[in-house]
Amino acid sequence: MRQAERRRPGTSRRGVRSAAARRRQDQDPVRDHQQARQADRRGVRADQDAHRRGRAAALAGRRLARQRRAHRPLLPRRLGRHRLSRRAARRGDSAGRAHRPLLRRVQRDDNRSRVPQGAPCRERDRRAGTLLRDGLRSSRGRRARRDRSRLKRPGSDPFGGQTPRVGGVERTLPWSWYADPEVLRREGQQIFARAWQYAGHTGQLEGDGSYFASAAGQIPVVVTRARDVRLRAFLNVCRHRGHVVAAGAGRRETLQCPYHAWTYGLDGALRAAPRADREPGFDFGELGLQEIAVDTWGPFVFVNPDPHAMPLAETLGDVPARLAEIVDVDALEFRFRTEFELDANWKIACENFLECYHCAVAHPGFTAAVDVSPDSYRLEADGLTSSQLGPLRENGDSFLAHGEVGRSQFHFLWPNFGINVFPGQPNLSCGAILPLGPERTARFLDYFFTPGVDQSWIDELMAFDDQIGREDTALVEGVQRGVRTGVLPEGRLLSESEQLVAHFQRLCAEALAE
Ligand code: FES
Ligand SMILES: [Fe+2]
Repeated sequence: MRQAERRRPGTSRRGVRSAAARRRQDQDPVRDHQQARQADRRGVRADQDAHRRGRAAALAGRRLARQRRAHRPLLPRRLGRHRLSRRAARRGDSAGRAHRPLLRRVQRDDNRSRVPQGAPCRERDRRAGTLLRDGLRSSRGRRARRDRSRLKRPGSDPFGGQTPRVGGVERTLPWSWYADPEVLRREGQQIFARAWQYAGHTGQLEGDGSYFASAAGQIPVVVTRARDVRLRAFLNVCRHRGHVVAAGAGRRETLQCPYHAWTYGLDGALRAAPRADREPGFDFGELGLQEIAVDTWGPFVFVNPDPHAMPLAETLGDVPARLAEIVDVDALEFRFRTEFELDANWKIACENFLECYHCAVAHPGFTAAVDVSPDSYRLEADGLTSSQLGPLRENGDSFLAHGEVGRSQFHFLWPNFGINVFPGQPNLSCGAILPLGPERTARFLDYFFTPGVDQSWIDELMAFDDQIGREDTALVEGVQRGVRTGVLPEGRLLSESEQLVAHFQRLCAEALAE
């Protein structure tokens, strides 16, 4: 297509290119240098003529030659002329008067760089697009720097000391925080390095001598059960030069780093390091894997990279008791895991989980089964937990109405753990929302059922859940495309229907402001 346009004689693109070429020639320092030399020669000739006319005239000729030599371009011609003529104009002397025409020329040149009225639309659009893009880039950069500086001030808040409510509704976090690598780096330090996070389930550690690799945010971790039956967790980072040590899950006595084969026991101790015997003073005792906190609730295994972490039970709050009203987590068996990735910041995926304001709009299947009206669908935030409690619709004929679980519960544990229990037969799915980059997120869901649940009911649930997942993926990625543009600084939250999103955002802001 572009080729054809280029061949067509007299088209707008050819015209534009030749105009651009003319401008480039105008700024050609070699050409300017030649012009200045010609001006010198003209000055010398004027000097010689003047000598014949008399001494006073000769002085005037030399003066003109000096003025012209002053135009030799050390800088691109336009800038050099502009500076010279403005300085001369300020002086108000004869040289200044002599250069005024040049100043007007500069102004004409500047005008010429604007899009001419008669320019072809495509070219006008291209130039306007460039200007808009450049403007957005610079304002986006300024906004990101301003928003980041709020992160760094101890005790500062993302709303810059202004009320978080505008027009009756609450401001969101700055949208620049959803695409900024620096914000994600700080979230790694201030949030994921300090919080309890779901790593996997006890079914992955059956038998002594087993392990599974996982992640706390972007921090690689490994959970082990050694022969002493003790549950342990470690940073999954080699103490030699930092390679990730373990991958996947399995049963074995040791974990060996794939880089230089340093080998660790499941208790974290360094057991072997090739050529260590040639290193005087090599201390195996100091080079074990770094241990981190680990704990369980029912079949769920949580880790916390912070060695001074508060007990897991404090993070869980009332969630275990509330879940116990509808499902016995100790009776659940792990059945399978689903994994997927999203083109979105991890916080957008969390926020999508934390409200059902969108359900009536985006999830017709779910809304047909569960009453999502604001008077029936309850939202509760307490400490580090958020809960959504949705009853089945009366007289609904969904497969979700068939079973002993009479209502849904959806819980969220700060910072990134979601739990789903649908009505119907005893079921629970849960998993972490993990940042892969500022605009890329990984999600996994572990599905648990009690042993007697029908496979046909599980199949129906999975089809139902897949549909909701596809609908949410489109929404989350659509939000990312909007917030990443930097065109608007922030959004608004409904104080009632989006109170859990607001709670999550306040926890984010507090963590990052520390
Ligand atoms: S980085 Fe692990 S053995 Fe070298
Ligand atoms: Fe949703």
